[in-house]
Amino acid sequence: MTLTERTALIREQFARLYGGEPTLWVQAPGRVDLMGSHTDYNQGYVLTMTIDRNTLIAAQPRQHRQVAIGSMNVEGNLSFSLDDLRCDPALPWTNFVKGVAAILQAAGYALHGFNGLIHSTIPFSSGLSSSAALEVASAMLFKTLGGWPMDPVQMALLCQKAENEFVGVNCGILDQYTSAVGQANHAVLLDCRHLTSEAMSIHPDLQVVICDTRARRELTGCEYSERRAQCEEAADYLAQCHAGVKTLRDVSLEQLAVCAPDLPEVSVKRARFIIEENQRVLALAKVLPGGDAGQIGRLCAESFAGARDLYEISVPAMETMMDAMLSGPGVIGARQAGAGFGGCMVAFVRRNSVPNFVQHVQAAYHAATQIESRVYPVSAAPGAGVVTFSG
Ligand code: GLA
Repeated sequence: MTLTERTALIREQFARLYGGEPTLWVQAPGRVDLMGSHTDYNQGYVLTMTIDRNTLIAAQPRQHRQVAIGSMNVEGNLSFSLDDLRCDPALPWTNFVKGVAAILQAAGYALHGFNGLIHSTIPFSSGLSSSAALEVASAMLFKTLGGWPMDPVQMALLCQKAENEFVGVNCGILDQYTSAVGQANHAVLLDCRHLTSEAMSIHPDLQVVICDTRARRELTGCEYSERRAQCEEAADYLAQCHAGVKTLRDVSLEQLAVCAPDLPEVSVKRARFIIEENQRVLALAKVLPGGDAGQIGRLCAESFAGARDLYEISVPAMETMMDAMLSGPGVIGARQAGAGFGGCMVAFVRRNSVPNFVQHVQAAYHAATQIESRVYPVSAAPGAGVVTFSG
């Protein structure tokens, strides 16, 4: 669907719901991590990228502090007052909008009501940050209606706060940061301690391909929080052994080896994965612009092996998908993406082999699982912003 077709559909539905035309359009993209699983909440590094799938909100300002919000992806509409922001278990997707409103208001920003209609091309619950994109698009809308300035990093932090405190998911900064700060045609090397990033070019022969296992995952499930707690516990043990350790970001493999005999096995495994994954992020950032296939393949393979054996976030569908990706024509590297436990994986594929790769992976994965996967190339789109239409 072209953007023109998409916006025509949104205008039609908008007119049915509210009458009239939307006067403001904002968008926020989804993301895929190219390296750096679960490193964000350990204040480490991630090599991340926006994708050319996004969440659009078409809106019309209102005089009063009333918000009416509908979605073209999910059933239901909701009208609520900015003076009464409570979590609504019946329409969970509305909590991302309400949560952002609540956090922005608590931070002192003046909000205006609107009529809004959401349309997203980011698949839900598959690890491509559809929730963060809705949060960031909502923040962009409130910012534009309010007319106040806010830099993208601050926006990402407030959206993360909305997800942590209002929605109740204890995520790191990766998803919101990428959606708010990400850049077209570039990957972003993110330093999660200093909240700084650097745009990295990707060699033109490399195509990033999403391979969605369609094995469902839920981030609110206890595994994510459990991994987070295990990392914090490992950092606490290591701090007793080495002065100055605040998070796993501060620990080297040599330091881990010194303390390992006295640590629970699970702490050693989780810590080793995070320390090595941080190193892989920095190593991949160095070779991605030049497209060194051998290095990219090795780093991705090590990342997947670590995710499976040390961090234990793999599931059988991911292993089957990994086999399908690695046997595909033109593949350079393949690994997990997002939080793991199903959802999407990511491959680097030689550009001219992409159609054959897609066909192969879908067929091989289907033969092994009977599941219709979704396999598609993505490219880095601009970070969140107001959408303007020329002509
Ligand atoms: C989810 C979280 C992120 C990050 C990743 C794993 O996407 O929302 O903060 O922890 O998992 O890297």
